[in-house]
Amino acid sequence: MKIASFEHYKEVYKDSVNQPEEFWAGVADTFLWRKKWDKVLEWNFKEPNIKWFQGGKLNITENCLDRHLDTIGDKAAIIWEPNDPGEHHRIITYRQLYEKVCQFANVLKNNGAQKGDRICIYMPMVPELAIALLACARIGAIHSVVFGGFSAQSIADRIQDAQCNIVITADGGFRGAKDIQLKSIIDDALVTCPSVKKVIVLTRTRTPVSMIKGRDVWWEDEIKKVETQGATDYPAEEMDAEDMLFILYTSGSTGKPKGVVHTCGGYMVYTGFTFDTTFQYQPEEVYFCTADIGWITGHSYIVYGPLSQGATSLMFEGIPTYPSPGRLWDIVDKFKVNIIYTAPTAIRSLMSFGDDPLKAKDLSSLTKLGSVGEPINEEAWHWFDEKIGHGHCPLVDTWWQTENGGHMISAIAGVTPLKPGYAGLPLPGVQPVLVDENGKVIEGNGVSGNLCIKFPWPGMLRTTYGDHERCRTTYFATYPDMYFTGDGCLRDEDGYYRITGRVDDVLNVSGHRIGTAEVENAINMHSSVVESAVVGYPHDIKGQGVYAFVVCPNKHSDDELTRKDIMMTVARIIGAIAKPDKIQFVTGLPKTRSGKIMRRILRKIAEGDTSNLGDTSTLLDPAVVEDIKAGAL
Ligand code: WT7
Repeated sequence: MKIASFEHYKEVYKDSVNQPEEFWAGVADTFLWRKKWDKVLEWNFKEPNIKWFQGGKLNITENCLDRHLDTIGDKAAIIWEPNDPGEHHRIITYRQLYEKVCQFANVLKNNGAQKGDRICIYMPMVPELAIALLACARIGAIHSVVFGGFSAQSIADRIQDAQCNIVITADGGFRGAKDIQLKSIIDDALVTCPSVKKVIVLTRTRTPVSMIKGRDVWWEDEIKKVETQGATDYPAEEMDAEDMLFILYTSGSTGKPKGVVHTCGGYMVYTGFTFDTTFQYQPEEVYFCTADIGWITGHSYIVYGPLSQGATSLMFEGIPTYPSPGRLWDIVDKFKVNIIYTAPTAIRSLMSFGDDPLKAKDLSSLTKLGSVGEPINEEAWHWFDEKIGHGHCPLVDTWWQTENGGHMISAIAGVTPLKPGYAGLPLPGVQPVLVDENGKVIEGNGVSGNLCIKFPWPGMLRTTYGDHERCRTTYFATYPDMYFTGDGCLRDEDGYYRITGRVDDVLNVSGHRIGTAEVENAINMHSSVVESAVVGYPHDIKGQGVYAFVVCPNKHSDDELTRKDIMMTVARIIGAIAKPDKIQFVTGLPKTRSGKIMRRILRKIAEGDTSNLGDTSTLLDPAVVEDIKAGAL
C-alpha cells in the first residue's frame, strides 16, 4: 500500500482498526483469487480459531508468477549472486521462473507428491531453493524448510513431527570458505525417518554422495524426464484460503521446537501487503534481503512477499564477510541495489572491520535500508545510516516473529518518522498492547510491559503442527484474549514502540531464536554431564551469546577437551548454530529449596555483574553462588 505522508498513515491506521474487515478485504482485493471469500474473518483467541478469507480459492504461485507474465514477464524476478564472486551470477525473469516452477512441480508429481503432503527442504541458497518452495505451493504440498545449519538429529525430529514423505536437498552447499555436506547429513537423518520415500538431490558442489536406488534421484535427471514428457506447464492446484501453505519450526521455552503453521490466503495477503507498505517498493527497484530462506525472513521477504508484488529479489548464496568484509557492498554496486534489508548482527560484524572495506564502494544506488531479527543498538543504527545509507536513506527497523508471518511494528520507508533503536509504530491493521504481569492492559504513553496483540491479522500462525493445544498454551493462554509475543517492550511519550528483548527463556543469537531448554537438553546428553543451565549474555557481534553452566564432576581428560566434546554434542544434537560461546564448569547450580534453578543469578554472573545478585536467602546452598562467581568466564 502506497502511503503518501505521515498524516495519511494516521488516517489509514485509524480506519484499519476501526473497520478491520473492510480494511483487509480492500487489501485482499489487490490479489488474484480464483474465487473471492465468503467471509473476511472469523476468530476467537480462546481456542484459538482464526480464519481469514473463508471460502476464498487461490494459489499463491499464481499471484507470484502467472499474474505477472503479461505485464512484467521479462523483468528479473530473482537475481542470484553466488558465494564465490568468480562464479557467474544468474538472472531469472518472471517468465523463466514460472517455467522452472512448473517443471519442478511436474518433477514432484512424477515422484508421487500429492496435495497436502509435507515436503522437507534442506538446501543451500540457490535459486532452486526458491523454485522448490514455489513448486510445493503450486501442487498444494506443504513445505517445511530446515536451515542448513541444523544437524541430522534436528532434521529427523522435524521430518518425523510432520511425517514428510519427500526431501529436497543438494549434494552440498557453499557458505563462505566452508562447504556443507547436505546430502550426507540428510542420509544420517533418514535412518530414523521411514516416512520419507523420495529424496530429490540438486547438484551444487558435486561432492561425492551416496544415492540409494529407488529412494534418491538427481534433480537434473528428473527435469530431463519432464522435458522428454514435454510437460512445460503445471496448472496450479486450487487451494482454500485456510489450507496450509507451510510449516516452519521455531524454538520456544520448552525443549522441543514447534512447527508454526501458515495458511495460503492470509499469509499471501499479509506478506505482499507488508513488503509493499514497509519498503514502499517502486517497480524499477532492486531489492536485496540478506537472510537465508531457511528462516521466516527468507520465506516472507525473499520469496513470497517480493514476488507477489512483482519485485526484483536479489538472493545471495554466501555470507557478508566472504571473501572480504566488503562483499555486501560489492553486491550493492554490482547490481545497483536500491533496498537492502539485513540484520543488526551482520551490521555489527561489518562495523568491526572499520571503514577500509567501504573504500571505493559507491553505494549511491541505495535509497532504503531495513533491519530485522533483534533490537538494533544505536551505534549499529547510526553506522548503517551514515556509512551505508550516506545519511539519505530511511532505515526501517522491522519488528516481527516467525509466528506473525510478516512485519508488525515498523517505520514505513520515507513516510513515518524514524527513531534510532525503535521499531516505531504499528503497521496498518496491527493492534499492539502492553500488559503488566497480571495481564492488565497498560494504557497511555511513557510505559513499558509485555507486548501482546489484541486483534488478529491475516499473517498470524493458525496452529502448531500436530499440537493445537501447544499453540494455545504458548501464545494465547498467558493473557486471555490476546496473542502474547514473548517480548518486553516500551512505548515512549510519542507512542513509539521499542522492543527490549525476550521475557521468556529464549535467546536471540545473531537474530536466530534459540531455546535455553533445548541447549540444556543437548548438553545434558553428553555422557559426563550431570546437569546444566544455559543463559544469554551480551555479545558484541551476536547480540546475545550462549553461556552454559555445566555440572560435570567426572571429566574425561582436561577442561578444554571436555568443553570441545560438549560443543560437539550440541552440534550433533541441534546444530552448529546452538554451540555455547562459553562453558563454565561448576560444582552445583543455584537452586531454591523446591529445586528450581535461579536463572536470574546466573544471568547476572554471565553478564559479569556480580555486584548485586539480589536476595539469595531462599537458595538451598548459597555457597554455590560464591563458587560460580569465582569461576566466571
Ligand atoms: C524474535 C522473533 C522475524 C524475523 C527474524 C526473527 C526478535 C525480531 C526484531 C526487531 C527487536 C526483534 C524479537 C522476536 N526481533 N525483529 N526489529 N527489534 N527485536 O524471527 O526467530 O521468529 O524471532 O526476534 O525478540 O520475538 P524469530
